[in-house]
Amino acid sequence: MLHHLRAAGVSVLLDARGTGVPRVVHWGRDLGDLTDEDLAALADATVPAVPPSSVDHPLRVSLVPGLAEGWSGRPTVAVHRPGGPLDLDLRSAGGLASRDEAAGVAVETEVELTPQGVLRLRQSVRNEGSTPLAVDAAAVVVPVPDRAREVLDFSGLWSHERRPQRHLPPHGVWSRESRHGRPGHDDAFLLTVGVPGFGFRHGEVWAAHVAWSGDSVSWLERSSLGVSLLGGGELLAPGEVTLAPGETYTGPWTVLVWSDAGLDGLSDRLHPWIRSWSTIGRPRPLVLNTWEAVYFDHSLERLEPLVDAAAAVGVERFVLDDGWFRGRDDDTRALGDWFVDLAKWPDGLTPLIDRVTGAGMEFGLWVEPEMVNPDSDLARSHPQWLVGAGTWRHQRVLDLTQPAAYAHVRDRLDALLTEYPIAYLKWDHNRDLLASAAHGQTIALYALLAELRADHPSVEIESCASGGGRIDLGILPLVDRVWTSDTNDPLERQSIQRWTGLVIPPEYLGSHLGAARAHTTGRTAALSFRLVTALFGHAGIEWDLTRASADELAAVTRWTALYRSSRALLHGGVVVRGDASDPAWLTHGVVATDRSEALFAVVALGTAQGALPPVIRLPGLDPSRTYRVSVVDVGAEPTFVQPQAPPWWPGTTLPGRVLAEVGLAAPLLAPENAVLLRCEAV
Ligand code: DGJ
Repeated sequence: MLHHLRAAGVSVLLDARGTGVPRVVHWGRDLGDLTDEDLAALADATVPAVPPSSVDHPLRVSLVPGLAEGWSGRPTVAVHRPGGPLDLDLRSAGGLASRDEAAGVAVETEVELTPQGVLRLRQSVRNEGSTPLAVDAAAVVVPVPDRAREVLDFSGLWSHERRPQRHLPPHGVWSRESRHGRPGHDDAFLLTVGVPGFGFRHGEVWAAHVAWSGDSVSWLERSSLGVSLLGGGELLAPGEVTLAPGETYTGPWTVLVWSDAGLDGLSDRLHPWIRSWSTIGRPRPLVLNTWEAVYFDHSLERLEPLVDAAAAVGVERFVLDDGWFRGRDDDTRALGDWFVDLAKWPDGLTPLIDRVTGAGMEFGLWVEPEMVNPDSDLARSHPQWLVGAGTWRHQRVLDLTQPAAYAHVRDRLDALLTEYPIAYLKWDHNRDLLASAAHGQTIALYALLAELRADHPSVEIESCASGGGRIDLGILPLVDRVWTSDTNDPLERQSIQRWTGLVIPPEYLGSHLGAARAHTTGRTAALSFRLVTALFGHAGIEWDLTRASADELAAVTRWTALYRSSRALLHGGVVVRGDASDPAWLTHGVVATDRSEALFAVVALGTAQGALPPVIRLPGLDPSRTYRVSVVDVGAEPTFVQPQAPPWWPGTTLPGRVLAEVGLAAPLLAPENAVLLRCEAV
């Protein structure tokens, strides 16, 4: 049987004929209507010759390639029983299932092509024998053509997430592994391989993302056998998953995306797909978060003026961050004791919440349910509930796989959500697990999130892990926001948001307006640069507005109004990024799906290479429509190195194809400044 899956310009051809394990013949550009005879001829035509010094049959790299079929590369599924290795010799068991009768092991690959052209694969392994079966790996692989030579993936660190790295790997395995018990700040995120030179707007690319919040691996193998495979799956520690007779392990989905329109083409499949199942059902309220405003300095007297200032500038959700619970005076103690600190809040949180809701805002609360400080009542009373080596930010991890520990934290959260009108939880997670236990812990975390969501369906949840340490497509169906990074420095944020937005739609990406001097870098940034940068996401404020000047408050008020009037476009449109000819100058934007309007940020990260910065080309507009381009007042003026603007400034009218192809002369922005342009079809 041949399966030709087609959607949105993508074809996947699976050859499940014969007795071998099915294989992917093609994943990429749509092959059009093909008859059964065409498909069979194509599948046969891609069976390779037998090279010298090799197995005596053609190498058909299957969905579960292994030694028995002559594949000496990285194994995809690896299992063993006590006493020795187990070399699987799998045979087709119908559909995309296969079985090794003698070994008592069955493997099934699930393959889905979504209407948006996103391909998902996951692997299940079933123990059909009579003794325990250890699962060492159960990942998925798909072939990519040899012309896919250049790799882009990501590394990073706290406050500097998603740093792109590109190279041309020679033969071998380029493997990115997370052993943090969470994806981590250095997560590979989207392992992309493409025809060398691909950019945001051009080039053929194939990419993989493991939809899992625990340990994972994604890799590209360029084998000397002449085959290239893109792979991904859960990274299992030795002995972590052992199946009793009759049990099945099902790995997470690996999400695979192809585009011939560069990296923006990947987003243009991923974002509509994510939006098709997103839990976000209503406009993203503008947030004020108290963290960088007051840290642990909590009291009604301290926070009431901030509530009032937030309401006055147009904030819609007020979030009380870390510091509200019993004994939490700094980050060395009290995690786990999820009771309101009556020393700081003698009447509980109700007076604060009343002030917030009385001013027309929602109330949100910070929690870190998976973590426990050794200096806490919880750790003292239940030391057996703690897991994870050493301490990290003075924390241990609560072992959610222990039913009593799970029930305890669920009940505490449930009690808080029942007692108080909480609209949103910022769910933090500030350490690596440092234990070979990520599989069970991740499953338990997902169960906890799902249970709380079911019991409190109106409560939104944000995934935060010291910023963007847990942003993945495993957790996304269970949350409504991600905290993109702990840095609110706009210079850092331009890059972090640009690259996180490759996978995650902007309505999920928490993006806050910070104080002039960024707490994480010490760098000082102009208000207009901070405003433009924070607009492109789920916007918020993380700044002690009680210390802002009247002019600053007026600017912030204009900006919140702009956010509210633009959010349908910002959170529903197509994300576009220009290919920069000068790395110091960027253009990015959001174009309405009907291409009737768009907002673009033109950003000077640094000094342009020439006296005149590169022209501003505006991608993604309708080539056949004409647009009125105007400069938008974000609330504060940028700084220019020279006041004279180009003659078209602050507005012109031109066809979309001209704006994309030729562009507009750039204003002479000073470094670390940005302007916002609006395009409206006329
Ligand atoms: C780390 C988070 O990323 C911050 O935003 C803040 O919530 C702190 N934790 C609080 O401890």
